[in-house]
Amino acid sequence: VAPTDESFPERYGRWALVAGASEGLGAAFAGAAAARGLDVVVLARRRRELEETAGRIADEHGVQVRPVVVDMADPDVGRIVAEATDDVEVGLFVYNAAASPQGKFLDVSLDEHLVGLRVNCITPTVLAHRLGKRMTGRGRGAIVLVTSMAALQGTKVFASYAAAKAYELILGEGMWDELRDDGVDVVSYVVGATATPTMLSSINREGGSLADASVEPRTPESVAGRVLEHLHDGPRVYSHPDDERAADASATKPRAETVAAMGRVTSKFWA
Ligand SMILES: NC(=O)c1ccc[n+]([C@@H]2O[C@H](COP(=O)([O-])OP(=O)(O)OC[C@H]3O[C@@H](n4cnc5c(N)ncnc54)[C@H](OP(=O)(O)O)[C@@H]3O)[C@@H](O)[C@H]2O)c1
Repeated sequence: VAPTDESFPERYGRWALVAGASEGLGAAFAGAAAARGLDVVVLARRRRELEETAGRIADEHGVQVRPVVVDMADPDVGRIVAEATDDVEVGLFVYNAAASPQGKFLDVSLDEHLVGLRVNCITPTVLAHRLGKRMTGRGRGAIVLVTSMAALQGTKVFASYAAAKAYELILGEGMWDELRDDGVDVVSYVVGATATPTMLSSINREGGSLADASVEPRTPESVAGRVLEHLHDGPRVYSHPDDERAADASATKPRAETVAAMGRVTSKFWA
């Protein structure tokens, strides 16, 4: 049974921590947590945008919002986040930050792919390990790893991004099965096209509108709000029922067909 709004801080703990929260979907996750009465730690690289977002959420919801400027690619991120949050109980952890090397695999530099692995695989592992231990010790908490429809098959133009998102998807599912007996909910959140500044600025505008590709971007607020209603419905939650239907339909097709269909969309709109 999903907890009621009133029970959120009691069920999970007083604070949320959202990694990658200065704008778009990450800011929406922070706002949705604040709307349920949680205080929030927000992490991102750009100080001005992060502080503006933190101030806006604090004003709107009357909660404490603590901005911490940190790069998820920093090898020291575990220590930095620990120092910034050890005095509070993080009851909800959302790993939203992502790096998405864009272009054919061999055309993107190896360095860029490796930074992607750090942001999309290593850092979520570091933070989920640390915060997960504290949650199981207290017998309550929730972890959301934000992944993507791209994680469900090889994806042309985003090959290493999609592979890294598959890592987050499968990590979250395994953690769900391990932590549920300790009172901790884990969800791998499979997100479809969402109208965030990052996503809109990465579109190849020559290609027309996303609607032409039957991809209707959703609002960050609707996508963020949905997962908080489904924290108890892991291991995998989709950002919209249509995403789940599309995933199920693709899974029944020959693999080459599924991979090529995704590649036609990504190479048209993100080449
Ligand atoms: N938008 C979509 O259509 C879509 C589709 C499928 C999945 N997703 C997933 O949804 C999540 C959000 O995606 P989005 O691209 O739309 O972005 P977003 O949440 O709208 O913005 C990305 C946020 O992460 C922060 N960030 C990025 N790199 C960071 C780093 N190295 N260290 C710290 N913070 C960092 C950015 O702030 P700074 O720049 O200030 O650091 C920004 O606040 C990602 O996990 C993505 O894979 C999105």
